[in-house]
Amino acid sequence: MTPILETARLILRPLELADADEIQCLFPQWEIVRYLASQVPWPYPPDGAYVFCRDVALPAMNSGNAWHWTLRLKDAPYRLIGAIGLMKGEDVNRGFWLALPWQGQGLMSEATEAVTDYWFNTLKFPVLRVPKAVANTASRRISEKSGMRVVAVEERDYVSGRFPTEIWEITADEWNARKRGC
Ligand SMILES: CC(C)(COP(=O)(O)OP(=O)(O)OC[C@H]1O[C@@H](n2cnc3c(N)ncnc32)[C@H](O)[C@@H]1OP(=O)(O)O)[C@@H](O)C(=O)NCCC(=O)NCCS
Repeated sequence: MTPILETARLILRPLELADADEIQCLFPQWEIVRYLASQVPWPYPPDGAYVFCRDVALPAMNSGNAWHWTLRLKDAPYRLIGAIGLMKGEDVNRGFWLALPWQGQGLMSEATEAVTDYWFNTLKFPVLRVPKAVANTASRRISEKSGMRVVAVEERDYVSGRFPTEIWEITADEWNARKRGC
């Protein structure tokens, strides 16, 4: 069961198949996909969001291998504005995107705080790792601000090509020490 999470400004609601239409409207933008992993099909097919929800995200949620949420503003909860997910695995444990009109307001910083805390303190995983294209400044800044460290540098394939990539990491102990202000 993936629960509803809340932050100061956001409601994080577990992904449903019914969200696919809104995702299809907002997600296929070059600024959103260019630094996402090359598994994201591009050009994005008309049923891309539906197929992703039905065949990838929801089965992984149902089998306890992933936790996906859609993001909504508390003052406009009927409208999906982005998504965030947690996944079991070696070094891709979290992913997120926010639709263009809502970027640059600190919203994903808020959402990552909530789901990262869920990863460590509800799911009880010992470490969280995420790969990021070095060029993806906004995403790297989110990792940096939340106390993550770069543990490896390598090349990976993205929708827009092959780029230098940093693997960012934080342990449960580091996360909780930071929360306590240590
Ligand atoms: C990454 C993304 C989710 C950030 O969402 P957001 O809500 O705009 O991020 P925030 O407003 O919380 O900003 C996070 C930090 O990045 C900085 N930032 C935001 N946009 C930036 C940009 N275009 N260039 C440089 N820095 C940027 C912010 O200033 C903030 O740092 P600060 O707190 O020190 O000021 C959004 O840009 C996005 O959807 N990108 C496409 C998908 C993607 O790349 N996902 C991640 C894959 S690893």
